[in-house]
Amino acid sequence: MSIEETIKQLPKIEQHVHIVGSVRPETLLWLNKQGEIKLPYKTLDDLKDFYAYQGFEHFLNVYSMVNELITHEKYYEIITYEMLQNQHNCNVKHVECIFSAYDHMHRGLDFSDMVEYINKGISRAKRDFGITCNIRVDVVRNYGPEIALMLLDEIKTNGNNIVSIDTGGIEEGVLPRTYAKVYEAAREQGLRLTAHQGEAAGANYVWECIEQLKPERIGHGVSAAQDPNLLSKLTRRGISIETCPMSNLRTGAVKSLKDHPIRRFMEAGVKVSINTDDPPMFGTDMNTEYLMLHRELGFTAEELYNIGLDSIETSFIDEQAVSYTHLTLPTN
Ligand code: HPA
Ligand code: ZN
Repeated sequence: MSIEETIKQLPKIEQHVHIVGSVRPETLLWLNKQGEIKLPYKTLDDLKDFYAYQGFEHFLNVYSMVNELITHEKYYEIITYEMLQNQHNCNVKHVECIFSAYDHMHRGLDFSDMVEYINKGISRAKRDFGITCNIRVDVVRNYGPEIALMLLDEIKTNGNNIVSIDTGGIEEGVLPRTYAKVYEAAREQGLRLTAHQGEAAGANYVWECIEQLKPERIGHGVSAAQDPNLLSKLTRRGISIETCPMSNLRTGAVKSLKDHPIRRFMEAGVKVSINTDDPPMFGTDMNTEYLMLHRELGFTAEELYNIGLDSIETSFIDEQAVSYTHLTLPTN
């Protein structure tokens, strides 16, 4: 079997994917035609310009333009279902999807309705593809800690299938300590904890994040690789890193995939997962991530398979509820 075929058949786990960042280009054009036309794009070809970024902050601006197309809660069912269908097409068995609720609430959409539609999409995908999915709420740093505390209250009453919180959005300039109270409250609420960190800011942000927020996983973590003491600390504390290689390439967090620190994380004993972040926006999917890691960093099928096993261990799932007996390495 060719390596491409083996990679397609490998079972996979996705721990870090944004629902809105997964909107299919075709669906994006369709959404753009519902109601008021927001974007000057009509064809898939037009979108090539839209999906090219000058850097991380430019990417965040483009991402917020996609947010504007979600003008009704009901669209969440479609985009969640399609996101999971795409994941299933790459043989992903379990997904932890990121929902940035306030991106829509500040335009008047309702938290509990959005969660309900997301769960409808998840249930349909489970029925059609057998894939499981839980939700993490990103309390996007652009909005500040008061909004985050309000979101924790929403989760208390309307938190069906929401298992964790996360801080994403702008990184440089928002010190992790700003969210210390939010993370403490979330922990008391029984939520699991993760944080986008070390994607667009230095290792000092990752240090402060692990001391002040005590997350179980770090999203991206790229800059942590510059500090061996930090890597040892992550290992000792059992904090894993949700790597997003193609995302890091496309936003300029790494210059080339050969420079990506995923191997350095692993050599230091840090557990990693492999993730797509915002797949169509970064021209990727899980098969592409695996294939690029094979081509550019020499990962073998067995290594990739083992990362999948570690990812089950570091996922926020009730292992009793999900059967992983199908997670075997395909043989020739
Ligand atoms: N980082 C921060 N916020 C985001 C990202 C990301 O990679 N993708 C979507 N929102
Ligand atoms: Zn992300």
